[in-house]
Amino acid sequence: MATEKISRVGVIGAGQMGAGIAEVCARAHADVLVYESTRELAAAGRARILRSLDRGVSSGKLTEREREQAAWRLRFTSDLGDFADRQLVCEAVVEDEAVKTEIFKELDKVVTDPNAVLASNTSSIPIMKLGMATANAHRVIGMHFFNPVPVLPLVELVTTLMTTPEVTERAEAFAHDILGKQVVRSADRSGFVVNALLVPYLLSAIRMVESGFATVEDIDKAMVLGCAHPMGPLKLTDLVGLDTVKAIADKMYEEFKEPLYSPPPLLLRMVEAGRLGKKAGHGFYQYGENGANK
Ligand code: 3HC
Repeated sequence: MATEKISRVGVIGAGQMGAGIAEVCARAHADVLVYESTRELAAAGRARILRSLDRGVSSGKLTEREREQAAWRLRFTSDLGDFADRQLVCEAVVEDEAVKTEIFKELDKVVTDPNAVLASNTSSIPIMKLGMATANAHRVIGMHFFNPVPVLPLVELVTTLMTTPEVTERAEAFAHDILGKQVVRSADRSGFVVNALLVPYLLSAIRMVESGFATVEDIDKAMVLGCAHPMGPLKLTDLVGLDTVKAIADKMYEEFKEPLYSPPPLLLRMVEAGRLGKKAGHGFYQYGENGANK
C-alpha cells in the first residue's frame, strides 16, 4: 500500500555514507537491514556505526538505552535476496555507475512492494540511468545525504521523468517525518544542487595548491576564518574522500563538459597514490587512528 508508513528499511553498503544512513534510520526506530558483500566489510560497517552511536552518547544526544535499541535494530546480510520485504532501500555503494546499475537491476527483482522506494545516495550519477536498469523505473529516486549523515540535516530528493508522485511522497515523508531531515528537490542533473556548487569549489582549491598559490593550511584557514565555513575545502575533500570527489567530478564533466568540473592532475595523482583522505589516514592532511589530524 502506497501510504503504509515505512518501518522496514534496507541500506546497501556500509561505508561512511551507508553506515551513516543506516545509523539515522535505526535511531529513527526503523528496522534496518544492511547489505555488505563480505563478513569483514559488514563487521567494519557495524563497528563504524557503533563508534558513531558512542559519540552520540558522549555528546549527550543519545542515552545508553537509545544506543542499545538502535544497535538492536541493525542487521547485516550478504544476500540481496533478503531485501524482499523492504519498503525503502537506499543504495550507498562506491560512486561507480556499473556497480550501482547492477545493484538496482538485482534489487528490483527482489523487492516485492510495487511502491517500495528504491533510492540511490549517488552524488552525481543521473537517477534515470539507475531507473532504466530496472523494470520498474517508477519506484527509483535519488535520496542524497550529506557527510556526516547523523549531523547534517539535508536530503536532496531527485525524481526522474519516470518516478511516480506516490513514490516521491513516500520518500519525502520518510526523510522529513521519520528521519527529521530537511528536504530540497533537485532536477535529475549530475551533481544535483549541492555538488554542482561544491565540487568546482573543491577542485579550485586543489588547483590553488597545485599552482603554489597558497598552502593547504592557509587555503583552509582563509575559508574558515574569512567565510565562516565549518572546515576549509581541502579538509572537506579529505572528509568526502579524494576518490569520491574525483568520481563526482568525472561524472559532472561527462554530463556538462564544463572545464571547471574536470579533475586536476594533483587530484588524479593523489588518488593513484592511495591518498584518499581521512578514511585512508592520509590526504591533504595526515590522520591518526581516531581520525584526528596529526
Ligand atoms: N557522527 C556523529 N556525530 C558527529 C560526527 C559523526 N561522524 N562528526 C561530528 N559529529 C558531531 C559531534 O558529536 C559534535 O556534536 P556536539 O556538538 O553535540 O558535541 C558535532 O557533530 C560537531 O563535531 P565536532 O565538535 O567533533 O567537530 P566540528 O565542530 O569540527 O564539526 C563537522 C565537524 C560536523 C564535520 C563540521 O566540521 C562540518 O559540518 N563540516 C562540513 C561538512 C560538510 O560540508 N559535509 C558535506 C560534504 S558533501 C557531501 O557529503 C555530499 C557528497 O555527495 C560528497
